[in-house]
Amino acid sequence: MHGMGGYTPPCIPSFNRQTPFAAGGKVKNAIAHCEYPYFGELPISSMTKNYLEAAIEIAQEAGKILIEELSRPLHIAYKGSEVDLVTQADKRSERFIVERLTKYFPDHAVAAEEGTGHESGSASEFRWHVDPLDGTTNFAHGYPCFCVSIALAQRDSLLAAVVFNPFYNELFTAARGQGATFNGKNIHVSKNATLSTSLLCTGFPVRNRKASPNLQYYGDFTQHSHGVRRDGSAALDLACVAAGRFDGFWEFGLQKWDTAAGVLLIEEAGGKVSDFAGNPYQLGGPVILATNGLIHEEMRALALEISRRTPEPLRP
Ligand code: IPD
Ligand code: CA
Ligand code: CA
Repeated sequence: MHGMGGYTPPCIPSFNRQTPFAAGGKVKNAIAHCEYPYFGELPISSMTKNYLEAAIEIAQEAGKILIEELSRPLHIAYKGSEVDLVTQADKRSERFIVERLTKYFPDHAVAAEEGTGHESGSASEFRWHVDPLDGTTNFAHGYPCFCVSIALAQRDSLLAAVVFNPFYNELFTAARGQGATFNGKNIHVSKNATLSTSLLCTGFPVRNRKASPNLQYYGDFTQHSHGVRRDGSAALDLACVAAGRFDGFWEFGLQKWDTAAGVLLIEEAGGKVSDFAGNPYQLGGPVILATNGLIHEEMRALALEISRRTPEPLRP
């Protein structure tokens, strides 16, 4: 839809001077400085829409990079363990995303998995969480379950989220207070109210695998549901809960960039996200439980029961 570098998100008048979004992190200030006549006195929700539009554009362009890389010879490196892969595709995608976010929002901080992000020059309250390729192992094996995941947080509040699977052209988006969409259509979590008839999903860490207690949880949840999938992309797994494909998801030891976009998608699609104790999930927390809301307490009760006979989850 938008050519590389040829698309100007609304209210980003020029890339080579300070944009309204870059006016120091104060949204109201940014609105006051906006040079676009039609932008006027827009509410904060409209600013969020603009952030979301920029994130969608960037995720789709990064997706093109992943598809290009899929047909090229693989360059795999290992990040400290025998299954923690990083490829040329992760690096190229991240370089592009960080560059483009920095161009559009120079005052925002960018936290990106492969380490090329940055803190903002001034103390910005805005932070982008970027997973340039979630599902690297799938990608490296040509299994087309991978995505780009980008989310924007203002302090502790997630504002905008995009999860994009470029292979199937599946685009999940959410903006705080404005709902979640799948390829442009509003989505809602499933209405399945019992664990025994639910389809679940989980994942396993790539670091410190032997310390993970998850095989125990996997076994028990399998026995108590229609089944547990292990798709290998936490961001897509969460997006699938938002879209009602899965009724629930849990995983230990995920990082902020794995979950930030998916959490907002689920919240905006009417679902619930917490830890196993029922406390609000904190990005980067030791465990995430994300459901359609209806089976949340049943999943939580079973998880607590399993945890009584299983060692505490260890951080990867
Ligand atoms: C991984 C995937 C996987 C999850 C791992 C993550 P990556 O992210 O999300 O589903 O189980 O814990 O590390 O390395 O492919 O970006
Ligand atoms: Ca990831
Ligand atoms: Ca990744």
